[in-house]
Amino acid sequence: MDRFRVVGPNRLEGRVRAAGAKNAALPALAATLLADAPVVLRGVPGVADMRTMRRLLAHDGVRSAELNGSPLGVSGAGGAAAAAVAGESVLELQPSTGPAPDEAPYELVKTMRASVLVLGPLLARRGHARVSLPGGCAIGVRPIDQHLAGLEALGATVELTAGYVEARAQRLTGAHFRFALPTVTGTENVMMAATLARGTTVLENCAREPEVEDLARLLVAMGASIEGAGEDRITIEGVERLGGADHTILPDRIEGGTYLIAAAATGGDVTVDNLDAEHLAPLLEKLAGAGAVVESGPGWVRVRRDGELLPRDIVTAPHPGFPTDLQAQYMALMTQARGHAAICETVFENRFQHVPELARMGASISVEGNLAKVTGPTRLSGAKVMATDLRASACLVLAGLVAGGETMIDRIYHLDRGYEAMERKLQSLGGRVERIAGP
Ligand code: EPU
Repeated sequence: MDRFRVVGPNRLEGRVRAAGAKNAALPALAATLLADAPVVLRGVPGVADMRTMRRLLAHDGVRSAELNGSPLGVSGAGGAAAAAVAGESVLELQPSTGPAPDEAPYELVKTMRASVLVLGPLLARRGHARVSLPGGCAIGVRPIDQHLAGLEALGATVELTAGYVEARAQRLTGAHFRFALPTVTGTENVMMAATLARGTTVLENCAREPEVEDLARLLVAMGASIEGAGEDRITIEGVERLGGADHTILPDRIEGGTYLIAAAATGGDVTVDNLDAEHLAPLLEKLAGAGAVVESGPGWVRVRRDGELLPRDIVTAPHPGFPTDLQAQYMALMTQARGHAAICETVFENRFQHVPELARMGASISVEGNLAKVTGPTRLSGAKVMATDLRASACLVLAGLVAGGETMIDRIYHLDRGYEAMERKLQSLGGRVERIAGP
């Protein structure tokens, strides 16, 4: 297993490009199951989850090919500038021509929960889907009851047997459905299913994340009729078929936000290109409040800090609230702020696994339920730490950049699921980070 070796303290400076968003590319790839003509996706990030999703699509009969010849995925250590190794791909996905399973097998779902995104498309297009239940994960229980309730509202019969969800419907029928809580992939699954349903579907209490909107843009380009994506209420007029499209994945606000937090944490000066400041408003507001200078323009955001860092509390919430996917990285930042910062996690029930690891590096953090209190500033010192999930891993890399001495971060495969060539992007900003290949 690969590890990261970070030698600090570092000051990050320069420009880096955010890749296409993992959490927009995953549903976009799943959506190609709905199409009866080739779909081209641009800006597909070079992260491990894309390989998993492509394997899943291949299993279900959708072949994908890279049109730009860029190696998809993260390779070993290397010192090239980030721009040259961005690793984003242009993928062409060909619809299934012969019989193929309507299935997401346990082996793939267990490595990537987002595999559940094929449920809605398979059901809508083929009348049947069999998807392994994801089970729990490192950050929480994460049930999919709302995905299922939404599909049932469209007329599907859903059975749970032997760890699998089996959904059937001759043809789905438009309906009115209100999510009990906003769920990102749940909204995406039901929205995709409704595109091929007979009649009108109205979905309420939808997730408003920009990734939902991006998926709707792709579906509309494929011929779907959708209004309101990115808002609380989405209306979908079912159509008979969906065709091909050429779509560019929106930039990864979480990846970009991670580098901006790193700039503030290291007293650096970083500009992230291919990033929309509007999508990161809750983070940028906090960074400015904490004493960083934030500037932005079309397609870029710059964060720099010279002075002292001030504590600013956050409460994670569905978009447009503070994203849970930046909570761990923000906590690493707050270890450097003078005073007390309260960090409240409301989206997932178990997303503080980075706390004990940060504590091993010298951070002062107390946790009560879903509230973490960070007292700073602390001089972090390098240590051996273990990554437990994707964003917790990013938090530890940030802590390692700030800390004095050597930090060894184990289980970097979590990081590789969602960050494209992170060590190379950090190297291009002057960060002393290297990948140590493991057996
Ligand atoms: N929930 C339910 N029932 C459901 C669905 C969700 O109770 O049927 C609960 C979840 O347990 C959680 C809350 O609703 O407490 C919100 O979960 P949501 O469904 O919105 O999460 P998700 O769709 O499974 C996506 C991202 C996550 C991100 C969350 C929240 C993708 C592929 N994944 O997950 O990304 O944290 O939204 O913004 O889009 C990551 O990238 O590191 C990551 C975990």
